[in-house]
Order: sequence, then structure tokens, then C-alpha cells
Amino acid sequence: MKKWIAMILAGAMALSLAACGGSGSAADTKEEAAEETAEAAEETAEEETAETEETVDAVAQIQANGKIIMVTNAEFEPFEYKDGDTIVGIDPTIAAKIAEKLGVELEIQDIAFDSCIPALSSNKADFCAAGMSVTEDRKKNVDFTEPYFTTQQVIIVPVDSEIAARADLNGKVVGVQLGTTGDLYVTNEDGAHDIAVADVSRYPKGVDAVSDLLAGRVDAVVIDQFPAEKLVAQNPDKIKILDETLTTEKEVEEYAIAVPKGSNLVDVINEVITELKDSGELDEILASYNQ
Ligand code: ARG
Repeated sequence: MKKWIAMILAGAMALSLAACGGSGSAADTKEEAAEETAEAAEETAEEETAETEETVDAVAQIQANGKIIMVTNAEFEPFEYKDGDTIVGIDPTIAAKIAEKLGVELEIQDIAFDSCIPALSSNKADFCAAGMSVTEDRKKNVDFTEPYFTTQQVIIVPVDSEIAARADLNGKVVGVQLGTTGDLYVTNEDGAHDIAVADVSRYPKGVDAVSDLLAGRVDAVVIDQFPAEKLVAQNPDKIKILDETLTTEKEVEEYAIAVPKGSNLVDVINEVITELKDSGELDEILASYNQ
């Protein structure tokens, strides 16, 4: 196939050279030659796309750039949050290990949570580490690494709330962070869950949902366990986490790092995750951010 294209290209070039020479019927020949060259180039391009669609050598590109770009939403303590101008937390710590493994610099971009997957699909970033739960729907747009953490969705209510169990959410107004699994669960678009809330208020940050809970504008907030504990710790006399979780035992969520579909970076990150798990370092990182 390749040989054939090369022959056409060579032929086309010879023809156009002849055309340039200024012989009588130049116009026609020149046009035909240009067409054939364009066709051949198109076919070559198609062939290359077909080859790269399966796996992308993102690792080579990252190493050539000397830099790896991570996107996250730094509104999710202890997984990612701001300490002054620096983005810190469990995910940035794991990300630093990934950069170290590749011998490149790490750049972290703080964006909206629901922009993280689009940033990968449009190749604006190399990976997303954002306490992101693996879902079948997300798997259609990105590839996930091995999981590094598991969580439940929990319910935060005012200390004097009449909501005492997950079933009490029925008919209530619930605050969530936009585009999160908590949002998807209470929105319950496909009716997969036995919960029917009256309304869902969606916020760019979980902390904004909690502000509205404190102000009485929503009845409850649904968010991942660890971030919920951090949020409640700021107002322990006003809000609490219900003992019963929103997600059932079978609905435990797994956090994993997302990469653009087909990126071979997934293998490098899996190695890092395995090393961190085997050495006990992952447990140390988790513990150090959750005191
Ligand atoms: N685990 C939840 C999800 O995947 C929430 C993640 C929110 N992360 C963040 N960095 N704000 O939807």
C-alpha cells in the first residue's frame, strides 16, 4: 500500500516537473498531477490516523516537551485544594510521583470539575486527577487507570434537621457540586436510584452548596465522604454527616486518574499507583491529608 502511494507521488512529481518545463499540453497534465498528489497525501493521512487511533504515544510527547499537564478542580479538600497560590492535596502528591517517574515538570491547571473530561478529549491536558469516580458513562470519553481510593456519597444536614436517613431526602432540596456523581445520583435522570428529591441545586464548588445549607436555602448537601468531613469540620456545631450513606454498599465509588482515550500514559500511571500501593506510601499520603 505504502509503496503504491510512493509510486503515485513520484509519478505526480515527475508530471508536474514536466509541466513546469513548459511543454504544449501543460495545463491538463498539471491539474491531474496535482489531483493525484492530493489524493495520495489524503490516503497517507488516513492511514496514519487509523494507526494512531488505538494508542497514542503521549509519553514520548510529554518527555519531548519536558512537561506534563494535569487538570483538576481544586475545591475538594483533602484531594485537591489551594494553600495560598499552590494546589496541594492527595492528587497533586500522586501527580508529583508521575512527573518524577517521567523526569518532567508538573503543571497543574485548576478548572471547573465538569470541564476536566472535555479538557482531555480536546487534548489540552495529559491527565485529570480530581477525586474522579469511575463511571461507565465517563469511560466512553476517557480511559481510567487502576483505582487508588474508594468512597461513598454522604449526606450533610443541619444538626437539627428532620432528615435522619437517606429515604428522608425524598421531596427535599439537595445541593451538589455540578457534574459530580453526587449530582448524577440525586438528579436520577434514568430512575436507577430509589430517591426522588424535590429539586437539585448545582454549585461550581461543594463549599458553596454548604454555604447555602447553612443559610437554609437547601435541605441537605450530597458529596464524597472525605470532602464532607473537611467541610463539616469547619462548622461542627451547625452541620453533621448522617450515619447512613446515600450510596449503598453495592454502589461504592472508585477514584481513578483519567487520561485521553488511547493515551499510553495510562501504563506509566498504573505503574506509579502499583508502586505506591505496594510500598505502603499511598496509605501514608492518604493518612497525612486526613487528620
Ligand atoms: N467523586 C466525585 C465525582 O467523580 C466528585 C469529584 C469532585 N472532584 C473535584 N475535584 N471537585 O464526580
